[in-house]
Amino acid sequence: MLYPMTIDKDILEEKKKVLSKLRFHSIDLTDRMVEAFLNVPREEFVLEKHRDRAYIDTPLPILSGQTISAIHMVMIYISPKCTDPKIGDKVLEVGAGSGYNAAMFAEMVAPKDTSTPGHVYASEIIPELAEFAKTNIDKTGYSDCVTILQSDGGLGYPEEAPYDIISVAAASKRVPPPLLKQLKIGGILVLPLGKMFYQELVIIKRESEEEYSEKKMGGVAFVPLTGKYG
Ligand SMILES: C[S@@+](CC[C@H](N)C(=O)[O-])C[C@H]1O[C@@H](n2cnc3c(N)ncnc32)[C@H](O)[C@@H]1O
Repeated sequence: MLYPMTIDKDILEEKKKVLSKLRFHSIDLTDRMVEAFLNVPREEFVLEKHRDRAYIDTPLPILSGQTISAIHMVMIYISPKCTDPKIGDKVLEVGAGSGYNAAMFAEMVAPKDTSTPGHVYASEIIPELAEFAKTNIDKTGYSDCVTILQSDGGLGYPEEAPYDIISVAAASKRVPPPLLKQLKIGGILVLPLGKMFYQELVIIKRESEEEYSEKKMGGVAFVPLTGKYG
């Protein structure tokens, strides 16, 4: 899916500056990640009063005391080293927030003109934010490949399981068991595991019906997961 409007020249310049800073900080960017970043208008996913800060690589406040994640964190989530999204994949995102990360995943799994589009199901527990994410997804043209759910994402979304990718954008002390169950064999679950203010980003791969392997990606700081597994 491509954002239907043409990119404003100033915004394009700001986007290019962010990309060179990410490269300077040794974040590996593939062509498809760059294309996704150029296509998704982050300024449409932040609050009106923060539009001029949309291309600063920092989390920004959204509604209900929550945040849209920093740009580098979103890029890490969609990178080959982390979830390695492929065209046609089915993704469950837990913690839709503004909907930005869901749109970035949509660009990776359901790019414009593909004959085998994937789909992103994005769960948000706070009703006001689920509405915000849905409005942002609708106005930017991603509603064909992104479904926003107002639900406790720790329970997963069994109706559409199993998933190639489950991406969790809120921190918990333990892995919610439903998410492990709803992963395809060969599928990837990424989540921040640990206490308030500091967690380890953990990547879990389902190797077989009963076996899972785990890899640690370093320290991160996410808002807490709430609901049954918070
Ligand atoms: C860091 S923000 C996510 C940012 C988001 N990915 C974006 O692109 O804007 C984390 C979000 O997780 C949500 N959240 C926390 N616990 C949740 C749960 N159990 N199910 C679904 N969403 C949850 C919070 O309300 C918050 O909006």
